[in-house]
Amino acid sequence: MGREAGAVRPTTDGDGTRLSRWHPYPAMVPDDLARSLAERWVLPGKRVLDPFCGSGRLLMAASALGGDCVGLDVNPLACLITEAKAAAASKAVIAEIVRDCAVAARSGLPSNSITLRGTTVQWFSETIGMELAQIISWINGLDLEQAELLVVATALSAAMRDAAWIRKSGWKLHRMGEASRSNGRLSAWTSFAKRLTHYLENADQHRLAGSIDVYRHRASAGADVAVGTFDVVLTSPPYGDSRTTVQYGAASAICLDVVSRLIGLEHRYIPGSKIDGSCLGGSKPIAPEIDLKRFWAGSPVGEGAIRVSNFLMDFGVTCRKLVGLLEPGGIFAMVVGRRSVRGFRVKLDEFAITEMEALGLTAQIVERRQLQNKRLPRTINRFARAACEDQRASGRTKTMHEEIILTFRNPLHKQLARMAQAK
Ligand SMILES: C[S@@+](CC[C@H](N)C(=O)[O-])C[C@H]1O[C@@H](n2cnc3c(N)ncnc32)[C@H](O)[C@@H]1O
Repeated sequence: MGREAGAVRPTTDGDGTRLSRWHPYPAMVPDDLARSLAERWVLPGKRVLDPFCGSGRLLMAASALGGDCVGLDVNPLACLITEAKAAAASKAVIAEIVRDCAVAARSGLPSNSITLRGTTVQWFSETIGMELAQIISWINGLDLEQAELLVVATALSAAMRDAAWIRKSGWKLHRMGEASRSNGRLSAWTSFAKRLTHYLENADQHRLAGSIDVYRHRASAGADVAVGTFDVVLTSPPYGDSRTTVQYGAASAICLDVVSRLIGLEHRYIPGSKIDGSCLGGSKPIAPEIDLKRFWAGSPVGEGAIRVSNFLMDFGVTCRKLVGLLEPGGIFAMVVGRRSVRGFRVKLDEFAITEMEALGLTAQIVERRQLQNKRLPRTINRFARAACEDQRASGRTKTMHEEIILTFRNPLHKQLARMAQAK
């Protein structure tokens, strides 16, 4: 199965699909890489699993080529965005909603601002809170079918982020500074209509040749929900626990809190801490059982070591479960990176190769490519706020600059392969 491996293409400006930018989501696989991997491994009718599907770029790319795809993610917001992209919503209905928005905005709907759960911080102004309540009430009166409801809910979630005081540059939950807050005059209604218009302009690019089913589940529980086996696992797992990568649970929870008020939508609000806690490595600390120093050069005792080993062990268990879902001869391709914890890189690529080899799979292709168009600085200082100059000088760390694409093939006969290796 699959095509001959060619080199993955470099990221280039404007090589993306605009629907991918319809709703922000952290750590998205670059569009061109998603397409390139799908072109390499996905054929019509093949079953494809992305167990860490995020906002669904890999799934969309695989399904565009006729793959029958399943996505898993612990974050209900990721599931919502991916399902909305995959939904066969009626453009005519969405266009009508856009047309009616302006009238609805002036029609004296509820005037109480919505109150967010689980936070005492004011994340938007009274006016924006009131507009959000009005949009929700108006949509609830429209009695939409599921496909259109998914699209509308995603646009509402993105509009909330646009109009809120949540800083837009990252997913760690920070409020904008005072000055930007008082300058921010974007109406939630205007942004909602714009987001829907963006969807209308770009939805045709994304007509699926295959299918996409999404489940809110841990990747390690894939066997419980994803019935059957897969020809291809195409994924990009987190590169560390949620503190190492992006703590996006709290920001996701605010989006979910708003959209979960839409009647008929199954995507429930869950607290941010629960989202972060169910991400890889987020569970209770456990005693390290791996040879940590092979994969991370930090201190073997202390909180950093516990975080890294929890994450790696969780990742290892998950790989084991996922390989069990792979057809003999199937492909397991993953995009990973080396995040830094306490100033030292976690060699996730080497750990993945070790784990997969222990499961009888060998890395067929290992490719590296430079990250481009990155919004982060090339270096950060972990101790930027330290009073002592020496400590500040020691805190400078380069940010991640490359992604590594690992491709494994499940042997047709694992036992035979193991015997051959033993010889
Ligand atoms: C790197 S992002 C995936 C990016 C995605 N492939 C894309 O292109 O948009 C990682 C995703 O894994 C999810 N995740 C983290 N731990 C998980 C777990 N144990 N099971 C399932 N999903 C998990 C996160 O919620 C996040 O959406």
